[in-house]
Amino acid sequence: MAPKETLTITDNRTGKTYEIPITHGAIRALDLRQIKVSEDDFGLMTYDPAFMNTAYCQSRITFIDGEKGILWYRGYPIEQLAEKSTYLETAYLLLHGELPTRSQYEEFVYIITHHTMVHENIRKFMDGFRYDAHPMGMLLGTVGALSTFYPEAKNIFDPKIREIQIHRLIAKIPTIAAFAYRHGIGMPYSYPDNDLSYTGNFLNMMFKMTELKYRPNPVLERALDVLFILHADHEQNCSTNAMRTVGSSHVDPYSAVAAAIAALYGPLHGGANEEVLKMLTQIGSKNRVPEFIKLVKAGESRLMGFGHRVYKSYDPRAKIIKKIADEVFEVTGRNPLLDIALELERIALEDDYFVTRKLYPNVDFYSGIIYQAMGFPVDMFPVLFAIARTVGWLAQWEEMLLDKEQKISRPRQIYIGPQKRDYVPIAARS
Ligand code: SDX
Repeated sequence: MAPKETLTITDNRTGKTYEIPITHGAIRALDLRQIKVSEDDFGLMTYDPAFMNTAYCQSRITFIDGEKGILWYRGYPIEQLAEKSTYLETAYLLLHGELPTRSQYEEFVYIITHHTMVHENIRKFMDGFRYDAHPMGMLLGTVGALSTFYPEAKNIFDPKIREIQIHRLIAKIPTIAAFAYRHGIGMPYSYPDNDLSYTGNFLNMMFKMTELKYRPNPVLERALDVLFILHADHEQNCSTNAMRTVGSSHVDPYSAVAAAIAALYGPLHGGANEEVLKMLTQIGSKNRVPEFIKLVKAGESRLMGFGHRVYKSYDPRAKIIKKIADEVFEVTGRNPLLDIALELERIALEDDYFVTRKLYPNVDFYSGIIYQAMGFPVDMFPVLFAIARTVGWLAQWEEMLLDKEQKISRPRQIYIGPQKRDYVPIAARS
């Protein structure tokens, strides 16, 4: 007889036993509430700081196997999408669940291309930032401000209204990102060029100077497009959790994306690629790598770009990014920091401290070296991550909205504070 898909729990406080069903390798936390010591007992909860072992949704979008280093978008292996797809085709796949037909793809590209402009007030709004404002802070603030330009976006359960906001965000975030960069270097904004691809146009808005028409280098354009594919989604990471949680209050998608950008900004998440470059620059040369590794093992420094909550093996995206580096350096010249990174990886993958903790290079370890070689300043690296991840956030947000099991996110707590006590007048306080 097949084993029963249940958990039998004996509560030793009462001697009672309970049968809890197991589905998809999990039990429903709510099924534990029946476990009580008395009628007025609230019932058993699970305690799981940082959600180390908690699934808070069922999703059809992205699958990761951390032990095997597997990453699929809607079932398609990331290696195949990186080799054969484009970022906008992958964006369509993440949003709709299927690869587009040729006509669906051409229509999607047309729509995104024709939503890249922003209201001129956005340009004035961005002019108000300090000259040295971090572009991620500018992106965060400006995307939030976008919500005030499209008040109809609050009608999140109207599919047509939801779709146009999704298109606007995918199309406008590169424009705002490029404007943030141009603001920082004191250059006039370079406006979208509809003749160019999504990624080619982003390079145009970033780097166009006095030439009449910007022509992106096809090798760099393709390399950046693949980097966008690799960063497009990653199941329930910190910023997607922020997107789903903030979105669960039924706020408009611009405000929810602003929250996701804020989460991605953190150095433990999307800000790590910027920290990797600072770390490699600080190490300065290959022969100083052993000394840095000592600091990390002493807990005095962190090997940024290494380690992952899910991947306990090599991040499959890091493998692909390493290959892209060679193609980019053919065009830009080799970034000397690559040698330091390769030496760090070589030593770390042999060292017990990293091996026992299953710390491998993650998506951020090599990406920054390529971005720098392409001419992006270090503070733009998390912004590049945000451009690519916007479609992942939106696909996850829409899945959450349409999931009948989801409602406003409001976790419980375990109260360990003081018991009831009376107010003490200030004169009587010691
Ligand atoms: C991204 O979730 C996602 O999918 C994220 C992401 C995505 O696509 O959305 O993949 C993108 O954010 C990649 C991660 C980028 N961050 C970094 O590279 C920052 C450096 N890495 C770490 O801070 C850390 O590895 C995390 C934050 C990525 C994961 O942290 P966990 O799972 O909470 O692990 P932990 O901090 O509890 O570490 C476990 C042990 C600890 O040692 P002990 O206390 O047990 O002795 O490993 C050590 C940590 O000190 N450790 C590191 C380390 N990462 C973990 N030690 C040195 N260097 C590191 N990088």
